[in-house]
Amino acid sequence: MNVTLITGASGGIGEALATKFAERKHNLLLIARSADKLEKQCVQLETSFGIKAQYIAVDLNETGAANLVFEECQKRKLYVRVLVNNAGVGSSGEFFKNDLESELKIIQLNNVALVSLCRLFLPGMIQRGNGSIINVASVAAFFPSPYMTVYSASKFFVRSFTQALTEECRPYGVHVLLVSPGLTETNFMETPANANQWGKVLVEGANMQTSEQVAEETIRAWEKGKTFHVAGRLNRIGTKVGALMPYATIAKLFAQHKRKKMNL
Ligand SMILES: NC(=O)c1ccc[n+]([C@@H]2O[C@H](COP(=O)([O-])OP(=O)(O)OC[C@H]3O[C@@H](n4cnc5c(N)ncnc54)[C@H](OP(=O)(O)O)[C@@H]3O)[C@@H](O)[C@H]2O)c1
Repeated sequence: MNVTLITGASGGIGEALATKFAERKHNLLLIARSADKLEKQCVQLETSFGIKAQYIAVDLNETGAANLVFEECQKRKLYVRVLVNNAGVGSSGEFFKNDLESELKIIQLNNVALVSLCRLFLPGMIQRGNGSIINVASVAAFFPSPYMTVYSASKFFVRSFTQALTEECRPYGVHVLLVSPGLTETNFMETPANANQWGKVLVEGANMQTSEQVAEETIRAWEKGKTFHVAGRLNRIGTKVGALMPYATIAKLFAQHKRKKMNL
C-alpha cells in the first residue's frame, strides 16, 4: 500500500498536515512518541476521510529509530510515496547555560533523524521513478538566531541539505520541497527547553500563524511542485529583507533586541 509518512504527526503542524493529506485521500503512516494520541488520530482520520491510517510510536532520538521505521514499513508492505520530515524541537536561552544533552537532542532529531529517513526511503522512490520529500525547516534557517543558537543552526542544516537534495533528486523524478514556517501556534514553545524567559521574549506580541494555515500553505506548495516555500506573507518579506544584510549584522541586532527586552 502507498502511504504518506509524517513525523511529528501527533500535534501541531504535523497533525494539521496529516488532516490535509487525509482530505486528499492519502493513506497515512504517522510517527511520534505518543502512542495513545496517534492511535486516536488514526481512528478519527480513517472514520472522517475513508483512508487507511497506521502509526509507529517511536522516539526518533533513539539510535536506530529511523532504521526501525524503515524495517517496519517493509514488514507491513508500505511504500512511502511522500515522506514528511516535520518532527523538530528547539531550545531558548544562553547556550553556555543550556543542558548539553537537550542541545544534542535537537541535532539528533532535527538533523540526524531527518537525514537518515531521507537516505533510507529515497532509493525506493528513485527506483519507482516518483515520490516526494517535504522537509520542514523554519525562518530560523535564514538568520543566525542568538539565544536559539543550536536550533537555528540545525535549521540552517535542514535548509542547505534539502536545497542540495532537491537538485540531486530532480533527474530521477523525485520532488523535494523545503518549507519554512515562522512562529506558529503549537506546543513547540511550551516544551521545557523553550518555555523559559528567553522563549517568552521571542513569542511576546509576535504575529503567529496557526498550524492549519502552515499545513495549507505547505500542501499547496507541494501540489504546485514548488521546491521552496516560506509560510506567511510577513515571514516571506522578513526572509527577503534579511537576505540583504550580512549574517553578523543580523545576529548582532537580534541579540541586542532580545537583551533589551530582558533588561540585560
Ligand atoms: N511552532 C513554531 O513556531 C515553528 C516555527 C518554525 C518551524 N517549526 C518547525 O515545525 C516543525 C513542527 O513543529 P510544531 O510547532 O508542530 O511542534 P510541536 O507542536 O511541538 O510538535 C512536535 C511533534 O514532534 C513530535 N516529536 C517531538 N520529539 C520527538 C521525538 N524525539 N521523536 C518522535 N517525535 C517527536 C511530537 O510528538 P510526541 O511528543 O508525541 O513525540 C509532535 O508530534 C518542527 O520541525 C519545528 O522546528 C515550528
